[in-house]
Amino acid sequence: MTRADDLPLAQQVALLSGADFWHTEAIPEVGVPGVLLSDGPHGLRVQAETADHIGLGESLPATCFPPAVTLASSWDEALLAEVGAAIGVEARALGVGVVLGPGMNLKRHPRCGRSFEYLSEDPLLTGRLAAALVAGIQGQGVGACPKHYAVNNQEAHRHVVDAIVDERTLRELYLSAFEHVVRVARPWTIMAAYNLVNGERCSSSRRLLTEVLREEWGFDGLVMSDWGAVAERVGGIAAGMDLEMPSSAGAYDRDVIDAVQDGRLDPAAVSTSAQRVLDLAARAPREPSGREIPVAAHDALARRAAADGAVLLSNDGLLPLDPDGSVALIGAFAEHPRYQGAGSSQVNPTRLTTVRDALVERGATVTYAAGYDPRRAEPDQDLIDEAVAAARDADVAVVLVGLPGSYESEGFDRDHLRLPPQHDTLVWAVCAANPRTVVVLCNGAPVLLPWREEPMAILEAYLGGQAGGGAIVDVLLGEAEPGGRLAETFPATQADVAADPWFPGEPRQVQHREGLFVGYRHAVTAGSEPAFPFGHGLSYTTFAWGEPSASAARITADDAVTISLEVANTGERPGSDVVQVYRHDRTGVVLRPRRELVGFAKVRLAPGERRTVDIVVPPRAFAFYDVEARGWRTPAGAHDLEIARSSTDVVATVALEVVDGVTAAPEPPDTEPIAASDAAFAARLGRPLPAPRPVRPFTRDSTVAEVQGTTVGRLLARALRKAMPVAEDVDEGLRAMVERSAAEAPLRHFVAFSRGRIRPALLDTLIEALNGRPLAAARNLLPEPLRRARPRT
Ligand code: BGC
Repeated sequence: MTRADDLPLAQQVALLSGADFWHTEAIPEVGVPGVLLSDGPHGLRVQAETADHIGLGESLPATCFPPAVTLASSWDEALLAEVGAAIGVEARALGVGVVLGPGMNLKRHPRCGRSFEYLSEDPLLTGRLAAALVAGIQGQGVGACPKHYAVNNQEAHRHVVDAIVDERTLRELYLSAFEHVVRVARPWTIMAAYNLVNGERCSSSRRLLTEVLREEWGFDGLVMSDWGAVAERVGGIAAGMDLEMPSSAGAYDRDVIDAVQDGRLDPAAVSTSAQRVLDLAARAPREPSGREIPVAAHDALARRAAADGAVLLSNDGLLPLDPDGSVALIGAFAEHPRYQGAGSSQVNPTRLTTVRDALVERGATVTYAAGYDPRRAEPDQDLIDEAVAAARDADVAVVLVGLPGSYESEGFDRDHLRLPPQHDTLVWAVCAANPRTVVVLCNGAPVLLPWREEPMAILEAYLGGQAGGGAIVDVLLGEAEPGGRLAETFPATQADVAADPWFPGEPRQVQHREGLFVGYRHAVTAGSEPAFPFGHGLSYTTFAWGEPSASAARITADDAVTISLEVANTGERPGSDVVQVYRHDRTGVVLRPRRELVGFAKVRLAPGERRTVDIVVPPRAFAFYDVEARGWRTPAGAHDLEIARSSTDVVATVALEVVDGVTAAPEPPDTEPIAASDAAFAARLGRPLPAPRPVRPFTRDSTVAEVQGTTVGRLLARALRKAMPVAEDVDEGLRAMVERSAAEAPLRHFVAFSRGRIRPALLDTLIEALNGRPLAAARNLLPEPLRRARPRT
């Protein structure tokens, strides 16, 4: 096997940047193959001809499984492992060596445009489900790439924003899901995010990439950058950033070689990273498996997964529907489904089932009315009148509403949590015409539901993937159980989201003043009543839970405790239930959310069946991160474990005593859940509030939007838009994403994404011109030795 140390320095350095947009560098003369990397979390996006990281160009057909939001709502690790394995099989068929997922960023605010690609607002649920998905993928001999490490919780300003987060929140929320996946599932690779955290760019943070990831958690794989996330090659390599993606066409290789030769960069850093690229190439499959994608079987799995992730939010007995009744099927999404989000995760599906086709196929008596034009926001009265008439004449009305693609996508965040006005108007009108109405929601993140008391049932189908239409019909007709429980809070108002005042922050800084109080952690602590709480979801059958018992009543800080209880299906249909265990720390040693998820179990039972479930609550569940001591500490004293159906529906409480551990709060004690004042936030950070990095003078990191006020900037913006042509008939979501991505691109992307046609020296010239320094600009064009000889002004 080739060893990095046996290769010349230039070849080692070449390995540290991609060969092109999707491959690692090959060295054919010594038998090192290039590895094909492909998005994305819920199916593959292998581009045969064009290459882009925002989902513009066509990709080869692959099964579009339900996106993360839907898979996560199943709370079912076995299901995620099964989907992971199926993605792994497809990866083998298409010759993919590493699947770029799962997306693991926490849903700090439901406005994040990429929420659909992330699993949950809770780190325990995120970590466990991601670990299952990774195990499924890697079980097929293909690598996974959990992303985006770390604190990439918004799309706005993702290339320049610096997330200011206190250390305890960072450890307990944002890093802990990654920690779990690394320790438990041992992913082959991990992806460094675009943004900065506490002043350090993720792609050049030694602390994140080496000290925490490798030295503390034992990561032994390869770190690759998000596409275009590397801002400094030399610093990045020194920090542990192994592989820059995509290729920067060798533009910075000379800098790296010079740095080694000048003694600024340890040659061992280069060879260690190069060795990791070689190790990846050695373990990744060399060529396609030669087997076809099992289209029908994977479509069936996608359909089952979509039903398992569908959450029955409310039901006054209308669901499942009577198969003999007539149905008014309303909503253009029944014909033009919303089934995945836009951006780099966009899969070209092998098939696509619509609700309308699936319902008609079942022989149901269906009258269809579009109700709205999916490309517009404002209500169309004619379409609404037609829908109302259809609803009036039918036994039941099924209304599909949700978020059009233009509302949620990679590249930008939502402006608000409302549905398009026409969707709200339609629901009000149809419910008034026929009280026997079911609303089916198709969206990738929580929305406000002002009419939620009106329909007899609400089914949150999320984005169901290619077979989502069939899954919705399966659930409506009771052929499948809506197996989901919310993996995120549906707030009653946007103001109920604790992060709201600080989201998405300023372009160059976002402050996490809500600290630990994200999602249900805030709702249960503040006592605000969500529209639908985290963990909520109804079933078509009924379950009885027995008395829970704990393996011990007194534990030490190193002990796990097992909660056991019997779950019985007391109804007449098969169904699934999720037993949730939350910890309530009664010691008062540190400020903590009132309730935090520490364990769960999904159980499927036939009618009349009963089973004892055992939920292991690990020692970490009781610990907090002590910033001063740089480690995990457990408060001594009384804790409750709350056995619950959701974050607000506690069924039983088990009292526990931690017999050792700490009794005093770390100094200074933190007492305000939301650090609203500057002083409180600075105290929590343990340092003065940093000022956002200045926008001027412009640098390679400045974004197109930041330089657009200058003439040169406008020219650059125009050139970039030309380079990213968008077809006339493209949907609004894609158009918006391309425009926002172009505006938010840092100037250094011109080097990487022009495949080296724009050299760094030319870029620097432009930047000096942008800064109004024509002489410096001109000097940049001098040959390298002359340029170096003259000091910079
Ligand atoms: C996204 C990543 C993705 C990459 C490659 C980036 O824009 O943030 O999630 O894997 O592109 O398409």
